[in-house]
Amino acid sequence: MSITNLEQLFQDKIDAETKIEPRDWMPDAYRKTNIRQISQHAHSEVVGMLPEGNWISRAPTLKRKAILLAKVQDEGGHGLYLYSAAETLGMSRDEMIADLLSGKAKYSSIFNYPAITWADMGAIGWLVDGAAILNQVMLCRTSYGPYARAMVRICKEESFHQRQGFDILLSLSRGTDEQKAMCQDSINRWWWPSLMMFGPKDSESTNSDQSMKWKIKRKTNDELRQQFVDMIAEQIKTLGMRLPDDQLKWNENRKHYDYGEINWEEFWNVVKGNGPCNKQRLEARRKAHNDGAWVREAAKVHAEKKAAREKQAAA
Ligand code: 3HC
Repeated sequence: MSITNLEQLFQDKIDAETKIEPRDWMPDAYRKTNIRQISQHAHSEVVGMLPEGNWISRAPTLKRKAILLAKVQDEGGHGLYLYSAAETLGMSRDEMIADLLSGKAKYSSIFNYPAITWADMGAIGWLVDGAAILNQVMLCRTSYGPYARAMVRICKEESFHQRQGFDILLSLSRGTDEQKAMCQDSINRWWWPSLMMFGPKDSESTNSDQSMKWKIKRKTNDELRQQFVDMIAEQIKTLGMRLPDDQLKWNENRKHYDYGEINWEEFWNVVKGNGPCNKQRLEARRKAHNDGAWVREAAKVHAEKKAAREKQAAA
């Protein structure tokens, strides 16, 4: 059967909402773009543990420490599900990790900003995980089966992440003047970088058109971003705080909130590796990888010895 026929059959499956599975025929470009997106998603989960991990020992109460600990552990697990989903497409975990540590692979720009006060744990949970949930709920319907299934469990845990973040900010917003100011400062610093999580404008998104055709994406970057703005613009009213955007205004005709222009120069600068914490994040991941080399070595030797014993027993 010609490639053209195969590609048509593949698109027919996508259009019929049939999930694509690892052993199915797929265009090389479909495989490639899924490996790209899923591995970068996995990298984001693991690098995302760093800003929050820094605050586990600084949490203000044992309860907040336990909650943050659970959240950070969840993110590590999300990274493992996603690396496993990407491996089903033929790229090994070692190759993916090597691409991250060499700086070749991307991860979400949001994790290149510093978490400088306890309120940031709230803003990250409420805004960053809130943005991630909108994107990930959509990805529960992505056309690649293992990716969609990984999303189902991740979304359940992300909802808890967003709630605990909002709860931190709610406590601060009802606290002393100093705590209220810390809450507002954190929202000011995390709002615009959270909007950048959804990617460039649709007009500058190099992957979106094809990803929409292949139903890897079900909504465009701008559609998800608008959904997020509309959600947060309502939720922030409960906090009695404000978003740092003078152009934020309900538009009755559009039935959406209008909002100001994102600083795209900042976005691309961070994506290209020049954000406030890019260097620090990669150094931390390289150190963790090197410090963990003995564990990988021990696991490898253990597996080899076990295989040799099993071979001897079978002889
Ligand atoms: N940070 C870094 N790079 C970004 C980016 C961001 N916020 N947004 C876009 N980019 C990159 C893209 O990867 C692409 O580069 P590439 O072709 O070399 O990979 C380029 O900018 C152009 O962007 P596109 O819109 O064409 O790229 P996509 O179609 O892939 O859309 C995306 C970008 C919406 C982020 C999409 O990749 C996606 O949905 N990814 C899965 C979700 C994800 O990775 N979320 C990251 C956060 S995970 C998280 O927050 C964990 C939570 O527990 C806290």
